[in-house]
Amino acid sequence: MKIYFATGNINKVKEAKSILKDVDIEQIKIDYPELQGSLEEVAEFGAKYVYEKIKKPVIVEDSGFFVKALKEFPGTYSRFVYETIGNKGILKLLEGVENRDAYFKAVIGYCDEYGVKLFIGKVEGYVAYEERGSHGFGYDPIFIPKGYNKTFAELGEEKNKISHRKKAFEKFYEYLKRTNL
Ligand code: IMP
Repeated sequence: MKIYFATGNINKVKEAKSILKDVDIEQIKIDYPELQGSLEEVAEFGAKYVYEKIKKPVIVEDSGFFVKALKEFPGTYSRFVYETIGNKGILKLLEGVENRDAYFKAVIGYCDEYGVKLFIGKVEGYVAYEERGSHGFGYDPIFIPKGYNKTFAELGEEKNKISHRKKAFEKFYEYLKRTNL
């Protein structure tokens, strides 16, 4: 069975393909309105929206970076915040702040003729004191996952074994196997 992945981000598609080994994943570039709501609401709405357009099984993925001391900011504003104040801005907001707890969360919305289902992955960790590493994207240089002393950007490929997206895709994969899709 073919599953379409509605995203403009080819890296997300590559990651999905490597986890969903024997599933036929094809990127489709259809924009869907990003509601101003939780990741779950955005993913659910997006998956239904694209399904209504193409009437074929589809996934969308929405993710974000949440800093506890900033009351979960940037959260659902992650993309905008990254493009404006960036990692330096986040580090500045945390100057003198001891609680560095943060997490990444990814929500996959899958929609087919039976409706929509959500799969959630989360990775806990800390905000570093400075940017480190050159791999990855977004907040990777300032995020240290729990149990490690390197940032996601220093971990390189190893990140993809423990990431929020990896966990969400694994849950989706288990669902596909369970339901024999
Ligand atoms: P979106 O799901 O593509 O809208 O991603 C939202 C934003 O969250 C991205 O633009 C990144 O700034 C951030 N983000 C999501 N996942 C990651 C990750 O694995 N590493 C670093 N930043 C991420």
